[in-house]
Amino acid sequence: MTNINQQSAKMWSGRFREPLDATFESWQRSFPFDVRLLSHEIAASKAHAETIAAAGILVSDELKQMLYGLDRVIPLSLEESAKLTNLDALRDAHKLNSPGVGFVISAYSSIVALNPQAEDIHHFVELQLTKIIGDLALKLHTGRSRNEQIATDMRLFVREAIDNTLASLTAWRKALIDLAESAGEATMPSYTHLQRAEPVLIVHWLLAYVTMIERDASRLTDARKRMNLCPLGSGAVAGATLALDRNLAARALNFDAPTPNSMDATSDRDFALDFTQAIATLGIHISRFAEELTLYSTAEFGFLDLPERFSTGSSAMPQKKNPDLTELIRGKSGRLLGAATTLATLIKGLPLAYNKDLQEGQEPVFDAADTIAGILSVLPAFTASLKFRFDTMKTAAHSGYLNAMAAATYLTDKGIPFRKAHEHIGNAVRLGLETQRELQQLTLEELRAICPQFGEDFFSAITLEATLDCHDVIGGTARPRVKTALDEAKSRLTEHA
Ligand code: ARG
Repeated sequence: MTNINQQSAKMWSGRFREPLDATFESWQRSFPFDVRLLSHEIAASKAHAETIAAAGILVSDELKQMLYGLDRVIPLSLEESAKLTNLDALRDAHKLNSPGVGFVISAYSSIVALNPQAEDIHHFVELQLTKIIGDLALKLHTGRSRNEQIATDMRLFVREAIDNTLASLTAWRKALIDLAESAGEATMPSYTHLQRAEPVLIVHWLLAYVTMIERDASRLTDARKRMNLCPLGSGAVAGATLALDRNLAARALNFDAPTPNSMDATSDRDFALDFTQAIATLGIHISRFAEELTLYSTAEFGFLDLPERFSTGSSAMPQKKNPDLTELIRGKSGRLLGAATTLATLIKGLPLAYNKDLQEGQEPVFDAADTIAGILSVLPAFTASLKFRFDTMKTAAHSGYLNAMAAATYLTDKGIPFRKAHEHIGNAVRLGLETQRELQQLTLEELRAICPQFGEDFFSAITLEATLDCHDVIGGTARPRVKTALDEAKSRLTEHA
């Protein structure tokens, strides 16, 4: 009796007599999305070929053919798909893993369309390799399992995504620092409870975001360090059945070392969790920035003119200029949180070791990588093109009693307990509100009626400059402190680059 599954030629058909239900078969395939692991699967397969050759499974000529064949898989796949659609430009592109690039995605789709028999990326590479070097291709699976392969491919994907994110994050950081630099000593109100609080330098506000990004970069760098271990040689669950030198594959793939436990290595997706969670946090920061700019661009705030290059109009209301970029970013950060949540929920409760559920963990990672790449592809240029309305911001910083804290500080400097000083300035503010004047517009007589310790020097203590400069602590908005903070941020950026 012939094996009924030979026609469908799965990697596991031997023990089966019944063919798969056709709907189930296509539903359970991962090739439509894991195709984007192609270049990583090839790299990992080459590393594995070297390792089993060193263990005597392949003679040197076989290894040579194997490596040659693996190098031909991508060109062959592209040639085949070029026949389906006009994808000539792709042949030299070879950047099959640049996330979010439309034309690459279309190459993937045609590769998938052309290979309905491929169950997953591992099966696909084996099928292509067989076309190129014949049955020798079937030796490649000696001493390995798809469980360790997918764990390795995903690590390679995440590592690359981290590197890409870090690079574009540096570009945004630079854009923010440049924008800060160009703001000089311009001021704006700061807010608590979204009510005007105290004046700050615009630089100080922008550096708040630089500080967040630096934490984001450190989280990603940290995750990269922790994940940089090679699962190859872990087998299906208990370790390879050949005495492989796992260091060879680890080195070939630029991992620091092999993973220490085969059960963990085949079922661990912490690296993907770390990545999606760090990206979700970054997304939260970006979303807060987007929200602030959305608010600040309203007529109610009037702090900035949205750059036309990054805004859209309304099909109904001719006067509108809408902040689509910042709104979309705010929206997309929700997807990033979603990816982290999906992954955490997926892994929670999985018994060791590999479970097919893990296949569901790929798409959220791809989506997070694509989404953050997309966001960071527009954010630096958008940030660089922001034009503040310094006058409006200054007026807002200079009115509404934002110097009340500085005024209270003036009284405490005269030896008055803060609680009392607070009360006196509160009374002064009340008088100002009733007569529609700012603190600096009250007369000395009126002030002395509230508290005899007010002197002529009060007025110079509550100017906008003095109000900034009284925050003379590390991390405060005093002008010299902010200048130092900006210099330090710049040198950290240079160091980092
Ligand atoms: N497509 C599978 C995944 O993404 C590859 C590993 C399959 N392993 C298995 N034992 N069925 O998880």
